[in-house]
Amino acid sequence: HSLKRLNTFGVDAYANNFVEISHTDQLVNLFANKEVVNQPLLFLGGGSNMLFTRDFNGLVIKMSIKGIQDRVEEEEEVFVEAGAGEVWNDLVNYCVDRGYAGVENLSLIPGSVGASPIQNIGAYGVELKDVFHSLEAFEISTLQLRTFTKEECEFGYRESVFKGELKGKYIVTSVTLKLSKSSVLNTSYGAIEAELQARNIENPTIKDVSTVVSHIRVSKLPDPSTIGNAGSFFKNPIITKAEFDAVKQKHAEVVNYPAGNGSIKLAAGYLIEQCGWKGMVVGNTGTWKNQALVLVNHGEASGQEIYDFSEVIIQSVKEKFGVKLEREVNVF
Ligand code: EPU
Repeated sequence: HSLKRLNTFGVDAYANNFVEISHTDQLVNLFANKEVVNQPLLFLGGGSNMLFTRDFNGLVIKMSIKGIQDRVEEEEEVFVEAGAGEVWNDLVNYCVDRGYAGVENLSLIPGSVGASPIQNIGAYGVELKDVFHSLEAFEISTLQLRTFTKEECEFGYRESVFKGELKGKYIVTSVTLKLSKSSVLNTSYGAIEAELQARNIENPTIKDVSTVVSHIRVSKLPDPSTIGNAGSFFKNPIITKAEFDAVKQKHAEVVNYPAGNGSIKLAAGYLIEQCGWKGMVVGNTGTWKNQALVLVNHGEASGQEIYDFSEVIIQSVKEKFGVKLEREVNVF
């Protein structure tokens, strides 16, 4: 089964077996079969955070469980539950259209609802964890559904328990968000502030923030439907104060943010740009002209070619800044 249309990098790779799940009952039937469990498994949402470097010798399970519902409504808050297979941005639009505040800064992030908690998606000053209430997941070993609270998900920067300790053990089937009916907006991110000002918007609505964020994303990030990519390829590295002092001695201008507990987060896009890679085309791959943190497929790149290029970038940043970049995308 070809995976080319199932990953936003648009690289060609094949899986031995493939199944699409549109209802939780199908998971019970599937995993009750021991032959299914005894092969490598890969769960796929929108395929927007994946790089296939070779064929997959196992079963790819595409999660397509649909449905968005308001669950509980209180005076100020509303709980919205969405199936894992919903497109993340469709959920954002559902909330924005109804005046539910909280996810507007996360407009236009590619991918599925079910994948959103795995790496705690985030953009423009908001992370999923800020609006997350709970999720339901299927436990492969027991064939049971289990609810996870926010605390149990152990969210961090592009991290959760599902990338760590519980990796491969659960499949997210639905996510419930806790949103606000009064529009408490987060417009402190520089790019949002600037764009609101440029549009002469003083008292933005939820819809305004969503529109502005979408505009910023479209101007900075390549559209995966025309140029294969998986958003930021690397994480912004978080380093200690001592490490930061060493970087700063040689590179006084380095873009940085406080990251809690005295640690510092560097802008990986800045580091890559300073190494001269921004907008470079290297064979079929390269970095995006407006955002060096995004690696792109200019056409027929193989996953291996993109991976090899990412190694070159890691090496280059290490040599110039002494900082080790880590990949944000999942590599197979
Ligand atoms: N910068 C450069 N050159 C570049 C890119 C960035 O110098 O080519 C510097 C600029 O100084 C800029 C700063 O880096 O002000 C930050 O750039 P930007 O606002 O574009 O955000 P980012 O840190 O590069 C992160 C997320 C994005 C998210 C944006 C906006 C990660 C790994 N990436 O990128 O998330 O959209 O912030 O909040 O944290 C993703 O995860 O796939 C993703 C796109």
